[in-house]
Amino acid sequence: MNFLETALGSIKLDNPLIIASGVLGTTAEGIKLLYEKGAGAVVTKTTTLSSKPGYANPTVVSTPSGLLNSMGLPNPGIEEMSREVASACCEGVPVIGSVAGSSISEFIEVAKRFEDVGVIGVELNISCPHERVGLIGQDCRLTYQVVKSVKDSVKIPVIVKLTPNVTNIVEIALEAVKAGADALTAINTVKGMVIDVNTGYPILSNKFGGLSGPAIKPIAVRCVYEIYASEVKVPIIGVGGISNWRDALEFLMAGACAVQIGTSLMKGYQVIEKIKKGLTGYMKKNKLKKLNQIIGISHKRC
Ligand SMILES: Cc1cc2nc3c(=O)[nH]c(=O)nc-3n(C[C@H](O)[C@H](O)[C@H](O)COP(=O)(O)O)c2cc1C
Repeated sequence: MNFLETALGSIKLDNPLIIASGVLGTTAEGIKLLYEKGAGAVVTKTTTLSSKPGYANPTVVSTPSGLLNSMGLPNPGIEEMSREVASACCEGVPVIGSVAGSSISEFIEVAKRFEDVGVIGVELNISCPHERVGLIGQDCRLTYQVVKSVKDSVKIPVIVKLTPNVTNIVEIALEAVKAGADALTAINTVKGMVIDVNTGYPILSNKFGGLSGPAIKPIAVRCVYEIYASEVKVPIIGVGGISNWRDALEFLMAGACAVQIGTSLMKGYQVIEKIKKGLTGYMKKNKLKKLNQIIGISHKRC
């Protein structure tokens, strides 16, 4: 019996562990490997119409509270990425294409190209804190326009990835859903910076970056909880600082139907199976049969 099956609307997954965008997920071989290692689905690196080199080094800095990155969305462009993704999709890997663009028409074009090669859905990156696309997710009107335009152009589910770098995440979530979003991913990284005290210079070439890892987990759980408690009634994917099964469980209890893992994968693929094993053990111990019995339960506790 599979205790971990879950659904994001029409997307059915064998298990709720999805690989977050940007951490691996750029080549067919990499995507297939992540699936073989037990992921329920894999989100690609965010892809734009043309290739992007990203920012100059340093683009990543480790801090005592997490990883700060400002890569600048380096990617090979949709032409090359769609070839890689097609190969993974042909072998039955559930791939979600992460989409960004410098205009609405670019968002549409990239989403359509992903749809053509068989992805199970697209995730719109309107939330990267070190890129212009991040400004979209901080503005209700722009969020609505981008989501609605993509939604009107593709038939596959459209997932919208939200930023925590706003005063009220629920307001943006509601706008995305009004525009037709089929699911929401919360959260992208938290905007931050690090200064080298020997020189006074910011360490990242782009000055600001996005913090990920365990430090952001309470922020991410709070975001999922707030969205679930609101009038938003689409599935939520929780992400931010998950490194063990208890972390994943916390997101499910807050209201997420699935979770993504990013930074913790850098310690090795085994984290995927360890989380699945831990979740299955928890289900058996508590005589639970379906993840639905856990999703959102913390809302009933208060
Ligand atoms: C090195 C790195 C690159 C990332 N690149 C992307 C990206 O291309 N697109 C995106 O939507 N999120 C990107 N993210 C954000 C992650 O998908 C995720 O939302 C965030 O890291 C929080 O999850 P975590 O704490 O499990 O890493 C990146 C994160 C890291 C650490």
